[in-house]
Amino acid sequence: MDLSWDDRRTRQFVTNVGLITSDGPHGPNIMSAEWTHYLSYAPALMAVCIAPSHASHKNIVHNKAFGLNLASVDQTMLASVAGGNTGKEVNKFPVLEALGFAFYPAEHIDVLMVKDAAMNAECKVVKQIELGDHTMFVGEIQAIDADPSIKPLVYHNGKFWRVGEHIEKPNKTTLDTIKQLVQEHTK
Ligand SMILES: Cc1cc2nc3c(=O)[nH]c(=O)nc-3n(C[C@H](O)[C@H](O)[C@H](O)COP(=O)(O)O)c2cc1C
Repeated sequence: MDLSWDDRRTRQFVTNVGLITSDGPHGPNIMSAEWTHYLSYAPALMAVCIAPSHASHKNIVHNKAFGLNLASVDQTMLASVAGGNTGKEVNKFPVLEALGFAFYPAEHIDVLMVKDAAMNAECKVVKQIELGDHTMFVGEIQAIDADPSIKPLVYHNGKFWRVGEHIEKPNKTTLDTIKQLVQEHTK
């Protein structure tokens, strides 16, 4: 089956907002991507799924590298500008700098990174997988940094959120019950 981009059922997902930086035929660029994922510890792999019509897609296919920056709760404006304009028509970095956001050059790849993001990872593309109407770019991490005091922005139901109330794991009595049931049903 096919689903439309605004199908209410898929709005139950909770995601990060990746700020994906790139360079290439469209010049230095940044886009927002909720389909940003952690895939593997060793080697450390992360992925982003990008529609082929986006300027970032062409840049990443060409230069085989991308910056994966997780938006912070203070970067909603940045996420809206990066996700609401295309690098085919707009030079987004000067717009964002004029709005007070800052960027710095990555060390291992030729892209800009987002200052004060919740996490910054420099990725070299090791796999490009066509999946339906998006392409998954799998990147091997070359460098990664994160400041735990900077909180990641949450995306859910088409809106921005912050991580809310902490919910306790099951208590000891419940854990004992689970353990007993697992023992009873061990194969
Ligand atoms: C919060 C948010 C999340 C988005 N997630 C994705 C995504 O995961 N993949 C994608 O291809 N586009 C996604 N988009 C749309 C792109 O960011 C948007 O089309 C952008 O203008 C593409 O920029 P570019 O043409 O400069 O690459 C998202 C937009 C927003 C606002």
